Amino acid sequence: MILSLVSWKGGCGKTTSSIHFAALLAARGSTMLVDEDRSRNASNWVSRGEAFLPFRAYPPRALGTEARNHEHIVIDTRGGLEDQDLIDLYDNSDLVIVPAVAESMTLEALVNTANTLRTQGRELSKLRVLFTMARRSTGKTDKVAEGKAAVHELGISTLSTNIRATEAFKDACDAGRLVRDTRNPVGKLAWMDYQRSFRELIA
Ligand SMILES: Nc1ncnc2c1ncn2[C@@H]1O[C@H](COP(=O)(O)OP(=O)(O)OP(=O)(O)O)[C@@H](O)[C@H]1O
Ligand SMILES: [Mg+2]
Repeated sequence: MILSLVSWKGGCGKTTSSIHFAALLAARGSTMLVDEDRSRNASNWVSRGEAFLPFRAYPPRALGTEARNHEHIVIDTRGGLEDQDLIDLYDNSDLVIVPAVAESMTLEALVNTANTLRTQGRELSKLRVLFTMARRSTGKTDKVAEGKAAVHELGISTLSTNIRATEAFKDACDAGRLVRDTRNPVGKLAWMDYQRSFRELIA
């Protein structure tokens, strides 16, 4: 399976989600993570914790030689892909996950993405929006629920599981580990969020 992580707004959880989905895929078959972002965040995360992670990260140029050695490929992209890069990625992926934080700027960016794909004749059936950094709703407003409704109006699927907001992800990144392996007890719950969303993805 080729799973790509894309978002037009930066800092929505592409790299964090790439790491955790790659770990979940690795339990089902050999998995490589392709780091297409020049910041090399994913590669650095993996290199800090190679002993703890069940997959390795590669630069895009390694795809030609390494893809055949792996059953699954996770692609972590940089924010704001050019239209043609987006279309190529979409065409070459089985699923494209769009991590999103429930706020209006994210949703505006998603409208642009949907338009780009649609005007190039692509249906949006491979897209799945995953709400990350989700906080418990306070009082009457549930921003994630509102965000999901707005995404559905665009004709795009969302995962029903959200990834909760927790500092454990920063600890995981610093230590080169998965969120379940941090000292923060919420890390175990956050890992369960990724497990649940993964089950939805592959269902
Ligand atoms: N569920 C979460 N709860 C709290 N913080 C999170 C969560 N997911 C990611 N983060 C933090 O948010 C920041 C951005 O996450 P990440 O690097 O995964 O996003 P990105 O989309 O890859 O960013 P970029 O556009 O820079 O590549 C990081 O500091 C990360 O630790
Ligand atoms: Mg990133």
